[in-house]
Amino acid sequence: MYDAPLQSSATAARVRRAAIFHDFHPGEDSFRDALVAGLSRAQKAIPCRFLYDARGSALFDAICELPEYYPTRTELRILDDNAVEIATVVGPDAQLIELGSGSSRKVRILLDALETPASYVPIDISREHLLAAANAIAGDYPEVLVEAVCADYGQAFDLPQNLYGGRRTGFYPGSTIGNLEPLEAQAFLARWARRLGPGALMLIGVDLKKCASIIQPAYDDAAGVTQDFSRNLLVRANRELGADFDPEAFRHVARYDPASGQVGIHLLSERDQTARIGERAFTFAAGEPVHVENSYKYSIEGFSALARAAGYAPTEVWTDEADLFSVHLLRVL
Ligand code: TRP
Repeated sequence: MYDAPLQSSATAARVRRAAIFHDFHPGEDSFRDALVAGLSRAQKAIPCRFLYDARGSALFDAICELPEYYPTRTELRILDDNAVEIATVVGPDAQLIELGSGSSRKVRILLDALETPASYVPIDISREHLLAAANAIAGDYPEVLVEAVCADYGQAFDLPQNLYGGRRTGFYPGSTIGNLEPLEAQAFLARWARRLGPGALMLIGVDLKKCASIIQPAYDDAAGVTQDFSRNLLVRANRELGADFDPEAFRHVARYDPASGQVGIHLLSERDQTARIGERAFTFAAGEPVHVENSYKYSIEGFSALARAAGYAPTEVWTDEADLFSVHLLRVL
């Protein structure tokens, strides 16, 4: 029987103040295991999802403000300049799902432009950051149902239902897709295509291939904020796991390879040293790299081909005048 009808978004506006919170408790057991496993490999590595604890998230916000870090402001401008067109394609009553929402800054452009957006589902692994950002959105957009999901968006979990029937639209800005290997990126997008369903949209920011003199400083800034961000993995291990890394003894290095489009980000041991995590001891030779992150850059054609292989129809692509960055609108087939 059909009793308690769903509130229309207009009715709900008067009662809604805070975000609804779904907590899938991501990564609570795994930092230690992942770190020990990563540092036990022949080529040492620390999985990049651990960059974003509360301090790491704050440092990443600072990176986004750096003069050298062009992706954030360029993407914001592209979204701003094309918001009306994006809103037209998405249509009314959309359910906006943001993968890795951080401080939920960019989505405001969409929420401002869309016709009666029904709900916003920010997904992030950083709980405090997520709660603060989601509640800020709920306060500023009282007519939008905000359902925050604390989860690793690379893992399986149930999305909140699409209550109001508008288009499901994934939003994945920041060129975060570039932090996966291209084949993993394709598999990841294919999983999200299935999760969003046929006819849904995916709006995704993708950094473009260009000369190294622009890319490299974006990942190795003069003020050293990016270095602090990388080293935060070690600071976090010391605080959370009682490890004894000397973060200052690891130098942040970023190198761009124009052929593959890969920026490789490493922490290099400045000297022969040993660090302990509980019972386990790890030795680092002078100059030995610990892999932190890759950030792949694409051509527009290259990324469109990847999206097609993942089960999407590339629908629109917008760039800035200097072709630094691109925003793609994909439709799930
Ligand atoms: N998604 C961001 C990017 O690739 C992440 C990032 C920016 C990053 N700077 C970094 C990751 C430095 C590790 C280290 O642009």
